[in-house]
Amino acid sequence: MILSPSLLAADSGKYCQEIQNVYECGAQYLHIDCMDGHFVPNFGFNPTLVKGLRKYCPIFFDVHLMIENPEVYYQTYINAGADSITIHFENNCNFKEISDSCRQQGILFGIAVKPSTDIFSVSPLLSLIDVLLIMSIEPGFGGQKFRTMALEKIQTASRLRRKSGSSFKIAVDGGVNVPLARKIRNAGADILVAGSAIFNSSDRERNIKQLILEDL
Ligand code: DX5
Ligand code: ZN
Repeated sequence: MILSPSLLAADSGKYCQEIQNVYECGAQYLHIDCMDGHFVPNFGFNPTLVKGLRKYCPIFFDVHLMIENPEVYYQTYINAGADSITIHFENNCNFKEISDSCRQQGILFGIAVKPSTDIFSVSPLLSLIDVLLIMSIEPGFGGQKFRTMALEKIQTASRLRRKSGSSFKIAVDGGVNVPLARKIRNAGADILVAGSAIFNSSDRERNIKQLILEDL
C-alpha cells in the first residue's frame, strides 16, 4: 500500500520538519492540496511553496489540484517539482491533452472524482490516467468523516480496471484512518491519502506503518 500523508493537516509553522518526519517514518508520497477559493471554498498550497519544499526532501510530490482552470496552472506545479498531477473530473477540461503532456514529461497523471460523481462517467478516460482518486469526503477541508459509499466506488473502479485491462492505481482521499485501512485496501485501493490520521496522531510512526498495512 502506498501512503500519501496530506500536508494540509501538518503544522503550518514547520512544513519542512513535518515532511522529513513522515518520510523517515516510511511514507512514500506527500499529498499536496492546491486550492483557489473557487473550485472549493478554501485555499491551499501554491507553486511557490511547492518549489520551496522541493529542496528539502526527495519524497514523491503527489499534487491534487482543486482549482478552476487547472489546464492553465498544472505546468507551473510541474515546474515547481510535482511528480504527479491530479485534476478533478468535474473541471471538464481537455484531459487527453494534459495527460499527454504529463506523460511526455515523465509525470504521473490522475483524475479525481467528487462523492457525487458517478464512477462510470470516467470510463472513457481510463486509458489516459495513472491514478484514479476517489474522494471519500467533499473536497476542501481535512478532518471530515469518511463516507462509506466510497468503498463501493473503489470496488466499481477496481472492476472497471480489470475489465478494461488498464493498470491505473486507485487512490482514496478523505477521512482515511487506521481502522478503515484494511477495508479500503480489500475494496481495491492502492494509495491511501491521510491527513488528520497521521499529523494529529500521538504515534505517527506506528500509524504510518498501520496505514501501509505493514506487519508491526
Ligand atoms: C481535502 C483534501 C484532503 C484532506 C484529507 O479536500 O483533498 O487531502 O487533506 O484530510 P483528512 O485525512 O484529514 O480527511
Ligand atoms: Zn487531497
